[in-house]
Amino acid sequence: MTIQIDGGTTIRELVGRHPQTRKVFEQYGIDYCCGGGKCLAEAAQESQAALPDLVRDLDATLLAVAARTATVEKDWYAAPLHELIEYILQVHHAYMHEALPRVGGLVRKVLHAHGAHHGDMLRQVHDLYNALATELGIHLRKEEEVLFPYIVAAEAHREGGPAGPAACFGSVGNPIRQMEAEHESAGEVLAQIRKVTGNYALPNDACPTFRALYEELERMEEDLHQHIHLENNVLFPRAIAAESASPIGLAQIHGG
Ligand SMILES: [Fe+2]
Ligand SMILES: [Fe+2]
Repeated sequence: MTIQIDGGTTIRELVGRHPQTRKVFEQYGIDYCCGGGKCLAEAAQESQAALPDLVRDLDATLLAVAARTATVEKDWYAAPLHELIEYILQVHHAYMHEALPRVGGLVRKVLHAHGAHHGDMLRQVHDLYNALATELGIHLRKEEEVLFPYIVAAEAHREGGPAGPAACFGSVGNPIRQMEAEHESAGEVLAQIRKVTGNYALPNDACPTFRALYEELERMEEDLHQHIHLENNVLFPRAIAAESASPIGLAQIHGG
């Protein structure tokens, strides 16, 4: 599907339908996760970029994508919600569960080895990372144990399943707002880590573990951006739209 890009096009529309455009937004320092509702003109102004340059780079990316006919990205706007959730769990949650403790070990190791020369910076990274790991651990569990099962059960119900899911939170929009706030907080912590490390600039005396730590932190940031994008820009709006198109009776929601 092609799209006419101009200043009024929203970031959400672009990254939702063409995830390859994420790289362009990253290059311009434009937040496509939490700022997805903004149009390009607004985003360009905020990041002090020239709108024509941004549109040109986005167009070039879409042309390159169209030329790569062998690469077919799944259209998550059309796939059933349970498939999208399964994908998020298998790809992004599984990665986070594996990476959070492992990278935490690297943070401690590098602080121990390089504390003498880079102690101030590494202690900040250590504290920020610990806060991030704690926040994210709780966040992932809330999605896995409460929100995602609810969305899956509501979808099954709409498609003729036996009964609507019971929920203690009323509308699905309520936990979603909380998840979005937590995404924003996690994104801010990663941005702070990027800042205190000077955009992950390695010091001259960095050892391979130091290098591995920065590579892992950058990979985590990229994965989290894709993860949050799929939830904020695709899954959550679709779950809210599905609920308002076909509300589950309040009696069912409250288990009555
Ligand atoms: Fe998630
Ligand atoms: Fe999330």
